[in-house]
Amino acid sequence: MTTTAPTGELDSFERTIAADQRIEPRDAMPEDYRRTLVRQIAQHAHSEIIGMQPEGAWLTSAPSLRRKAVLTAKVQDEAGHGIYLYSACETLGVDRADLTQMLVDGRQKYSSIFNYPASSYADVGTIGWLVDGAAICNQVPLCRTSYGPYARAMIRVCKEESFHQRQGYELLQTMMRGTDEQRAMVQESVDRWWWPSLMMFGPPDAESAHTARSMAWGIKRHTNDELRQKFVDMTVPQADALGVTLPDRSLAWDSATGHYRFGQPDWDELARVIKGDGPCNAERVARRRAAHEDGAWVREAAAAFAARGGRVG
Ligand SMILES: [Fe+2]
Ligand SMILES: [Fe+2]
Repeated sequence: MTTTAPTGELDSFERTIAADQRIEPRDAMPEDYRRTLVRQIAQHAHSEIIGMQPEGAWLTSAPSLRRKAVLTAKVQDEAGHGIYLYSACETLGVDRADLTQMLVDGRQKYSSIFNYPASSYADVGTIGWLVDGAAICNQVPLCRTSYGPYARAMIRVCKEESFHQRQGYELLQTMMRGTDEQRAMVQESVDRWWWPSLMMFGPPDAESAHTARSMAWGIKRHTNDELRQKFVDMTVPQADALGVTLPDRSLAWDSATGHYRFGQPDWDELARVIKGDGPCNAERVARRRAAHEDGAWVREAAAAFAARGGRVG
C-alpha cells in the first residue's frame, strides 16, 4: 500500500495525470488520492448492492415470465457491478469485508436514490429509465477516470447499464399503450422519481466539497451541475416520446443556451436522506446487514475449502 511516496515518485504521478494516462495499483500515488478513490469506489460498490433491493422486491410479483426474466437479469447485473467495484477497490489496499462492515455500520454511504421506496410495478420501469439513465450520465465519463482498475470496471458496467435503461423504457412504453389505469401508474411513478433522480448528481457545484480536487486528479471529468444538465437534456425528449409529464413547471427549452432550463430539487431533502433520514434508509441497511449475517456460513465454508487446497472430502 502506498502511504508516503518519495517526492520523485510523486513527480511521476503528476506527469501521468498531466498526460491523461492511467494510474495503476503498482504506481506511487498521494495518500489523499488513494483515500478519495477508496471512498468513491466503495460508495459506488455499495450503491450497486443496495440498489438491488427496491426492484428485487418485485421479482416475485412480475406480471409475466418475460418481465421476470428481464428483471432477474437486471438485478443480477447489479450484483456483478458491485463485485467488479469491490475488486477495483481492493487494488487500493483495502479489504472487501471491511468495506461491507463500514456499510452496515453506517460509516460509508451509498447513493441517496435507493432510500426511496419502489411502491408499484411501474417503478421497475421508471427506475430503469431515470435512475439507470442518471447512472449512465455519471458513469460514462468514469470510463476515462484516472485510476486504471476503476476505469476498466466502468467500461463493462456501462454496457450493462444501457440494457437496464432500455428495459425500463420499454416497460413504460408498454404500459403507456395499455389502459388509462396503467398510464396513471406510470405518471404517478415518474412524479415520485423525477426529483430524487436529479439529486443523484449530488449537491450544486457551489456546495460540492470534493469536486474541484477530484477534477484536478482526473477522477471526475464533469461537475455535478454539468452532468445534471446533460441528464435533463437527454431525458426531456424521451418523456415527450413516452407521453408523460415531468413534474417541473419551469422546464423549458432555452434556444440561447441550447439546453433545457429546469427547477431545483429540494436540497434540504437530499441532505436529510444522506444523513440517514430518508423513507427507507433503516430498512435498506437492516436488510443488507441481515443478508451479510445469513451468508456467514457460506464465507466460512469457502474459506475452509480454500484452506484444504480446494479439495472435496
Ligand atoms: Fe449497476
Ligand atoms: Fe443498472
